[in-house]
Amino acid sequence: MRLGVFEVAGAQVGGTLSWPHPRATSVRYHELDYWIEYAQLLDRAGFDFLFFADGYGYPTLGGDLAPAAWRDGINFSGLEPMLLIPTLARETERLGFVVTASTGLDHPVQTARRFGSLDHLTDGRIGWNVVTGASQNVVAELFGHDTMARHDDRYAAASEYVDLTTQLMETVWDDDALLMDRETGVFARREGLHRLEFEGEHFRSSGYFTVDPSPQRSPVLFQAGTSPAGRELAAQWAEAVFVQGTTPAHTAGNVADIRDRAAAHGRPAPITMCGVTITVAETTEEAKARRAEFDAMQNDDVVNALYAGNTGIDLLALDPDGTLEQVVGTGVVGQMGTSNIERFLGPDAPTVRQIIEDLRGKGTRGFQVTGSPSSVVDQLEELMEATGLDGFLLEPVFALTDVVDFAEMVVPELRARGHLPGTPRSGTLRGQLGVGSPANGDHRRRTAG
Ligand SMILES: Cc1cc2nc3c(=O)[nH]c(=O)nc-3n(C[C@H](O)[C@H](O)[C@H](O)COP(=O)(O)O)c2cc1C
Repeated sequence: MRLGVFEVAGAQVGGTLSWPHPRATSVRYHELDYWIEYAQLLDRAGFDFLFFADGYGYPTLGGDLAPAAWRDGINFSGLEPMLLIPTLARETERLGFVVTASTGLDHPVQTARRFGSLDHLTDGRIGWNVVTGASQNVVAELFGHDTMARHDDRYAAASEYVDLTTQLMETVWDDDALLMDRETGVFARREGLHRLEFEGEHFRSSGYFTVDPSPQRSPVLFQAGTSPAGRELAAQWAEAVFVQGTTPAHTAGNVADIRDRAAAHGRPAPITMCGVTITVAETTEEAKARRAEFDAMQNDDVVNALYAGNTGIDLLALDPDGTLEQVVGTGVVGQMGTSNIERFLGPDAPTVRQIIEDLRGKGTRGFQVTGSPSSVVDQLEELMEATGLDGFLLEPVFALTDVVDFAEMVVPELRARGHLPGTPRSGTLRGQLGVGSPANGDHRRRTAG
């Protein structure tokens, strides 16, 4: 079982409300020591990686800051997670780190340079979560863009973006091009350096990449959009995919579709993982009581703001007894995230009231699992069986306590049942996850060979 933790470098992860609770210590997010403690815990417990979601957006309603942002602290203030990584890598032995970077703002050269540097500084333990970016309306406004790029255009540009980024990292330097020979005083072998000429529809680049080859060269490529265009991007490039966790049947459909699409591109199936919120205690009753404390903290403003940020739809402004058909085709609907609209349409479409109920306490979270250690592992096994998923991203409610509970109670049970190795995996993240070179890595081998 592949295992990661879903975090943000802020007080509140998961688009739900829990940071004020006494069990939550996430208000320490400004402290490096907090993140070191966190990463060391995961390192020892045998997690594959710590994942940081990220973006420039925040919840808005009616064109301005939503109460869920300023009052409830949902997806609002936070730090740039990339800056944490070298410290966390230095303080851990083997844990991987996956960081989000959007394809919509920086040039691929900038992104390649950051991830190339991070791969050196982590000794090959870095992954890149490629997103086209949530809350694109807010981001466009914040960056002074006149218009928000259209959903499928963003994905078309994203594919080219990853192509250029990985070509920079994979094809410019031969493995043996860096000499740094103090005897001869020669730094690099000229014949081992290849000028890149990239002429795309969205991006152009001509020249050399100035980060010499790192242990993995390209970071492990993750992808997290579940719309058809998102799944296609995943099929083309991703080595691991964060699939949206809705119902087991819906998730199974997406997992199978991503595998089919990858096969159509002649690529191996990417690893598929899904978020899971786990509340575990010695007994199921105790776990349910803890979960109830979290449920009692949720409010409709949080549900609404998050959904609006993702889709452009203000649920509280709609007829609660109608379906989403009442807004399809209006305004920006369908040009921001689409997967959270599509799953509520069709013959058995729920009413707006039912959608709000369904989303309460869910935020951007995937599956919800509550129980004793053995019952939690039973439920995870059932989910893997029903969906074909390769693993999970733990989405804490009360960080850091929930993660400590998981490590102490669930990890031993996962080991006992053979889902996690007795001795945690180590080496590069690519090696730990068992993924080969990216598509452009094959290109490099062809060039070198
Ligand atoms: C587990 C998971 C993690 C995600 N992390 C991010 C993130 O860090 N930043 C972001 O902008 N979007 C993130 N997303 C959202 C998607 O990248 C995407 O913006 C959203 O699903 C809408 O795109 P779609 O229409 O392709 O589904 C995440 C989604 C999932 C399921």
